[in-house]
Amino acid sequence: MSNTHLELSQVSIDFPTPSGPFRALNKVNLKIDQGEFVSLIGHSGCGKSTVLNIVAGLHQATEGGILLDGREVNEPGPERAVVFQNHSLLPWLTTYQNVELAVKQVFRGQKSRREMREWIEYNLDLVHMTHALDKRPDEISGGMKQRVGIARALAMQPKVLLMDEPFGALDALTRAHLQDSLMEIQAQLGNTVIMITHDVDEAVLLSDRIVMMTNGPAATIGEVLDVNLSRPRNRIALADDTDYNHLRSQVLTFLYEKQRKVEPINPKKANEQQKKAEVA
Ligand SMILES: Nc1ncnc2c1ncn2[C@@H]1O[C@H](COP(=O)(O)OP(=O)(O)OP(=O)(O)O)[C@@H](O)[C@H]1O
Ligand SMILES: [Mg+2]
Repeated sequence: MSNTHLELSQVSIDFPTPSGPFRALNKVNLKIDQGEFVSLIGHSGCGKSTVLNIVAGLHQATEGGILLDGREVNEPGPERAVVFQNHSLLPWLTTYQNVELAVKQVFRGQKSRREMREWIEYNLDLVHMTHALDKRPDEISGGMKQRVGIARALAMQPKVLLMDEPFGALDALTRAHLQDSLMEIQAQLGNTVIMITHDVDEAVLLSDRIVMMTNGPAATIGEVLDVNLSRPRNRIALADDTDYNHLRSQVLTFLYEKQRKVEPINPKKANEQQKKAEVA
């Protein structure tokens, strides 16, 4: 029996360009179960953010569509919270107020003021940020801002957490800390997560499945790798683990042999390539 939670079905998208429509994604199919952690990996410009933005409801698929618990998704909603690479906190609000804004939006009329306060603090505690409730974004570090962004997304109690390179702008140590926090939180809350990453180790460490995308134009899913490593996962123990290293090398092979990055393409050339691909 399948318990598909989120389904991408034949998702294609054409972006308008001066030289005609540009097919960024072509027939992307993916089924995700409740509580699954899925990473999207692929070369720059292949269409990872576009996939995420379609699931978020920020872009409309030209063909195909998204089903969440059997219902079609075509606009943004709080049940699909997004965390971007660069935090999108409001600079004039404190840590607490940034999370409060989202909580009020989602839970107005459902939670009392006290319940809201407890819920905001609970989520900031999950990311270890209760010590900086009254600080504004410019008074905390990049990693801390990212933590607040994650707390804000979690506080919306989303069915699906969408993360677009959430740790991409952080140094390696902070990144490792946040990966560990995210694994703990996910173990506790069982969120369904789609995370985009460029980092092979991050993908293997965090994911249940790694979805590897082909290069564009008309990018699609090339291969899907199951990551059956037991949880909780420990980065140090895994460094010497044969299964871990095998998975890692499968992703590397996909990226650097099967989908070797071609030079950046200009839209005109891309359209020519696309036409060729369609003929073939
Ligand atoms: N609004 C748009 N209009 C036209 N083309 C677009 C638009 N958004 C994305 N594209 C094109 O679609 C393709 C996929 O872009 P996307 O941002 O999804 O890539 P990505 O895999 O997220 O890349 P990166 O890893 O660099 O973030 C690219 O060729 C990009 O130029
Ligand atoms: Mg992107």
